[in-house]
Amino acid sequence: MTTTMTLADLAATSLSATGILEQHGLDYCCGGKQPLEQACLARGIKPGTILREIEEAKVASAAARDWRTAPLDELVKHIVATHHAYLKLDLPVLGHRLDKVVSVHGARDPEVLPRMAEVFAALRAELEMHLHKEEAILFPFIEQYGRAEVQGRPMPPVPFGSIANPIAMMEREHVKAGDGLSEIRTLTNDFNLPSYACSTVRALYEGLQVLEADLHVHIHLENNILFPRAIALEKR
Ligand SMILES: [Fe+2]
Ligand SMILES: [Fe+2]
Repeated sequence: MTTTMTLADLAATSLSATGILEQHGLDYCCGGKQPLEQACLARGIKPGTILREIEEAKVASAAARDWRTAPLDELVKHIVATHHAYLKLDLPVLGHRLDKVVSVHGARDPEVLPRMAEVFAALRAELEMHLHKEEAILFPFIEQYGRAEVQGRPMPPVPFGSIANPIAMMEREHVKAGDGLSEIRTLTNDFNLPSYACSTVRALYEGLQVLEADLHVHIHLENNILFPRAIALEKR
């Protein structure tokens, strides 16, 4: 999600998004073609606040569903449709924004910005590979497990010995992603804007903060719910 998205596109990102736009008097229906930035400017609202509220509502509505008992294949679908889709959309946007900030302000902040670009590029490359591995290899088997459980069938065999093997690999990659995120938090001074912050720097910091929040929920759903449930099913 970005502040340049139109109100209509933002409204389509989740059911709760329409409610948030409504509350702030942002017309996503007839005025839907207006970019968020522009609509907020007209009403004296900070666009970053709206993005954060939409993100928080998304997290809250995901939490409202009890993923500890919902069918496993639904949880997989939820993770892909919500968190993987978000990363695929926002990582390139953030990368582009960061490049712009480095080229404009790199010389003013030589200690921080080039390093931030390096950390972000590594995080992005690792995450893109990680999503691919989950979607192409691990998740299809977990979905099969989920369906076998619902239908009371035995668990189908997996080609990698035990499902715990690829899961252990994904968990190691989560730790690495967490390290990248915390380095970004340190480099941005806990997302406090530097003195030279222009609107692109502001949008970058807001975007990085949303990235951190979304990734935390994403990793929580996988590490603490999806993976332990899949391992427990295999052992049954
Ligand atoms: Fe994932
Ligand atoms: Fe993951």
